[in-house]
Order: sequence, then C-alpha cells, then structure tokens
Amino acid sequence: MKTFHTLAELRAELALASARPAFVPTMGNLHEGHLTLIRQARNLVGDSGSPVVASIFVNRLQFGPNEDFDRYPRTLQRDADLLQGAGCDILFAPHEAELYPEPQGYKVLPPDELANILEGAFRPGFFTGVCTVVHKLFNIVQPRLALFGKKDYQQLMVLRRMVDQMALPIEVVGGETTRSPEGLALSSRNGYLSEAERTEALTLIRLLREVQAQLRSTSGWTPGKVAALEDAAMAELRQRGWAPDYVLVRRRKDLHPATADELAGGPDATPLVTLVAARLGTTRLIDNLEV
Ligand code: PAF
Repeated sequence: MKTFHTLAELRAELALASARPAFVPTMGNLHEGHLTLIRQARNLVGDSGSPVVASIFVNRLQFGPNEDFDRYPRTLQRDADLLQGAGCDILFAPHEAELYPEPQGYKVLPPDELANILEGAFRPGFFTGVCTVVHKLFNIVQPRLALFGKKDYQQLMVLRRMVDQMALPIEVVGGETTRSPEGLALSSRNGYLSEAERTEALTLIRLLREVQAQLRSTSGWTPGKVAALEDAAMAELRQRGWAPDYVLVRRRKDLHPATADELAGGPDATPLVTLVAARLGTTRLIDNLEV
C-alpha cells in the first residue's frame, strides 16, 4: 500500500491506474466496519484495474463547537497497517492545510428536508460539513465506486442524493453495519466507553430489535401507536441513565414519518427503519435497524 499526504502526489499516482478507483472515505481510528468496506471494495473491483483507495481525514467542518474534534483519536500508523492488511492499495491522509489551504468558503448545502432532521436537528451544519468534504474528496480521487457504512444511515442517504443531484459519475455502495458478537455497532467513538458503559451500550441494539419485532409481529399500526413505541424506548433509555436525542421509526426512502395509510399497509409495503441517538456518559452513540 502507498500512502500520500498531498493532492499532487495522489493525483500523479492515480493517473497511472488503468481504471478509476473504488473509494472508502474515513476519519481514521479504524475498526472492523471500515475494514469490511475495504474488503467489499476489493471484491467489487476484482481484476478491473481499479485501485482501492481509502482516505483518513478528521474533518473539522462536520464537528460542532462543543463536539469531540480535538479529542477524536488520531491513530495513523495503526490505521495504515490495518488498511494494508485488508487489501487497500492507496491511503490518502492529507494534513488539514492540504485539504483546506484557506477557509472553505464554498460549501455543499444539502436540502433541509434531508439534512435538518434526525442527526441534523441535533448537530447543526453536520451534513453540510460531510457533503462538502466528501464532494471535495470525490473531486480529488475521482472514484467510480464509493462505499459508506449503513451505521450512519442518514449520512448514506444524504450522500446518495448528493451524488444523484450533482450527477456525479459515482456508484454509492452501502455496507451493512458491523457489530461486536454481542451486537454493539462498531464505531470509532466506542473507544470512549468504559467497560461498564460498553455493556450498557448493548441496550441500543436490544431496544432496536424489540421495536423491530413489535412492528413486524402485529398489525394495525397508526402514527399514534408508533409514537407510543418510540416514547417507551426513550423512557427506558432515560430510566437507565442515558440522555437520548431520539428513537424514531421512519420510512427508509426519505427518513420521514410513515403516513397512517403506509403504516396500515405494514412494513413490507412501506419499508421502515428505526434510528436511535443517545448519550451515555460523555459519549454520543447512534445506531439503526431496518424493520
Ligand atoms: O463517516 C465518516 O467517517 C465521515 O463522516 C466521512 C464520510 C469520512 C466524512 O468525513
């Protein structure tokens, strides 16, 4: 695997490839979820000549003023070793001054109806930061395929729409969430959890599975009954000492609430997903499960 820190070096290397790359953008502190995306990219490109490229860049633009930008773990050497082992060909790890040599005045503003709900409601400007850096990375890497994990369900949707609306010639691939054997969704932020919090964090997947089972096993759902289910999950999280931001059942297609008619038709007719975000101690976790 070759590592580059500048746009010029990366571009010179990519110019030698016979096909456009498959690309996995990350913020580093890699875990098995990222490595699964790298392996998936490797399988997808086969012997087409497309290199598998990963980027590591902790993007200041997507962090709010009180978020964890400064303490976000930077583990470049360990990450590079893991990427190499997973079959990555090229790592692009630019310094901040390389990607943002001047304040980034031009930004990609995703539409409010996608970006100001759920995560966007609690992290103002988050998706503008994500879309801006990903659009910029796409311009640098010029991939034909880009892979993102479904753990960040809304991010995947927002980026898919960006690619569609901007007519970028890129196929966006969503990778399934990788979980610990007990069910905890892998996340770079899990490293902030104490041993006891790591056990408690399993509550998220338990609640998501319970909501999924209830929605699947009974019929006659209405917006009011779904709201009661969401409220019960929120109450349980609070009672266990969490500070939940949301537990919401949404339509998969646009992450808006299903209508009464859609709920009456059942989750097979209108595919749903339950999304949760909650703080445990000082760590904010998100997870989701398709119904
Ligand atoms: O999911 C992430 O790690 C980041 O949001 C991304 C897509 C690499 C953009 O900084």
